[in-house]
Amino acid sequence: MFFLSASSRISFLFYGLSIICLTFATISASYGGNETDYLALLSFKSKITQDPYKVLTSWNHSFHFCDWSGILCGKRHKRVTTLKLDSHGLEGSLSPHVGNLSFLRELSLENNSFQGTIPNELGRL
Ligand SMILES: *[C@@H]1O[C@H](CO)[C@@H](O)[C@H](O)[C@H]1NC(C)=O
Ligand SMILES: *[C@@H]1O[C@H](CO)[C@@H](O)[C@H](O)[C@H]1NC(C)=O
Ligand SMILES: *[C@@H]1O[C@H](CO)[C@@H](O)[C@H](O)[C@H]1NC(C)=O
Ligand SMILES: *[C@@H]1O[C@H](CO)[C@@H](O)[C@H](O)[C@H]1NC(C)=O
Repeated sequence: MFFLSASSRISFLFYGLSIICLTFATISASYGGNETDYLALLSFKSKITQDPYKVLTSWNHSFHFCDWSGILCGKRHKRVTTLKLDSHGLEGSLSPHVGNLSFLRELSLENNSFQGTIPNELGRL
């Protein structure tokens, strides 16, 4: 009895573990390798309160984030190198997560209405 229940507990644990691994593999595959960039962009989007020209509707699961409007990625490494959304009437604040886009070379958000201060995290760019 004891042996049986112990081994079923182990196989349950193992089952749980493979689910976690599988999920993780699926997540990194669908983010094209870097979930940090993906999460940073989602966070950027979540801080935008007004998007009158709906430029951020393309920021959805149907596309890799490198194909989202205003985003350019490195050809090889598929990391965000440019975030350029000038003159889109965007309102909101700037997410500190943008500081996690470690390959970002150009951040261009002129002529929008971003409130608040530039997060310190952006100093790392
Ligand atoms: C994504 O990028 C971050 C920061 O450069 C790095 O720490 C992380 O290991 C990368 N993850 C993957 C899955 O490439
Ligand atoms: C994803 O973006 C495309 C292009 O902008 C749009 O046509 C589509 O409706 C969007 N899908 C969702 C679920 O928002
Ligand atoms: C600023 O953005 C608006 C659209 O939101 C556009 O109509 C206007 O021409 C832009 N102004 C400049 C100076 O680019
Ligand atoms: C990204 O940046 C935010 C805010 O600066 C931080 O809380 C978060 O832990 C960072 N890392 C990842 C992997 O998102």
